[in-house]
Amino acid sequence: MDWGLKNRLARIIKSYDRRGVMLAVDHGYFLGPTERLEDPQKTIAPLLPYADSLMLTRGVLRTSVDANYPIPVVLRVSGGASIISKDLSNEKITTSIKDAIRVNATALALSIFVGASYEHESLVSLGNLVNEGEEYGIPILAVTAVGKELEKRDARYLGLACRIAAEFGAHLVKTYYCENFEKVVDSCPVPVIIAGGPKLATELDALKLTYDAIQAGAAGVDMGRNIWQSDHPVAMIKAVKAIVHQNLKVKEAQELFNKLKLEPKSDKSAKPAKLTKPTKTKSKSTKAASPA
Ligand code: R5P
Repeated sequence: MDWGLKNRLARIIKSYDRRGVMLAVDHGYFLGPTERLEDPQKTIAPLLPYADSLMLTRGVLRTSVDANYPIPVVLRVSGGASIISKDLSNEKITTSIKDAIRVNATALALSIFVGASYEHESLVSLGNLVNEGEEYGIPILAVTAVGKELEKRDARYLGLACRIAAEFGAHLVKTYYCENFEKVVDSCPVPVIIAGGPKLATELDALKLTYDAIQAGAAGVDMGRNIWQSDHPVAMIKAVKAIVHQNLKVKEAQELFNKLKLEPKSDKSAKPAKLTKPTKTKSKSTKAASPA
């Protein structure tokens, strides 16, 4: 693997534990103004300090994230169908690699729709995107999308989709957690991270999902709604992160969440230090120290 590609991947999947916490906020690309993501800037800013990377479209990146904030960006570059269209699988690459480089993307993400009407197009898009990514040292995240067919989420289907993504050259795969998830991970030669999916009934359910996925070998999460649709999103991302990077058990993570949610909301937001000229300090110059 080329140095640049390896280096970019290490900004997403940390080399010290081979895991990562990606915050997903790309939902608007087919769902429009998703609940609690209506004002992306407001949703994203308080969570940035706790995410290892941020997954989103160039539109939300440019309008709603401060360019001075040094977070690795996983740029969604596929799209073309909305939730009200007939077929969600009808996606193409919509963002050029030039523009991805212009916004300093660390990785590129696209959806593949294995078994759906546009399977062929989405897989060819993956192959082409890997070709471009390899050229510039940018890793590709393949998202095994199921459209509206959520019942497809079992180990047989997801294992097939993840393996195909890796065979096409994806450097990282995002899929759903399912029973026997270790089979999905074991048959995929690149790191697998999980999506959270629609908001679960309780935060405890989402923490359990995270824990089970990590135990089964997932390299982390690319989670959205189960974090920012929580009434306590900062507490939630911190608890998820503690499971991913500190191996907290579900009960410990729940206790952490319950403690953190009581803290005042004035949590540190993603406000980068203002870029000002460095102040000149009077240095003890060699001139002063040297004999006259
Ligand atoms: C769906 O394909 C979107 O790309 C989301 O990024 C993905 O589903 C993860 O978000 P959530 O945890 O809300 O499912």
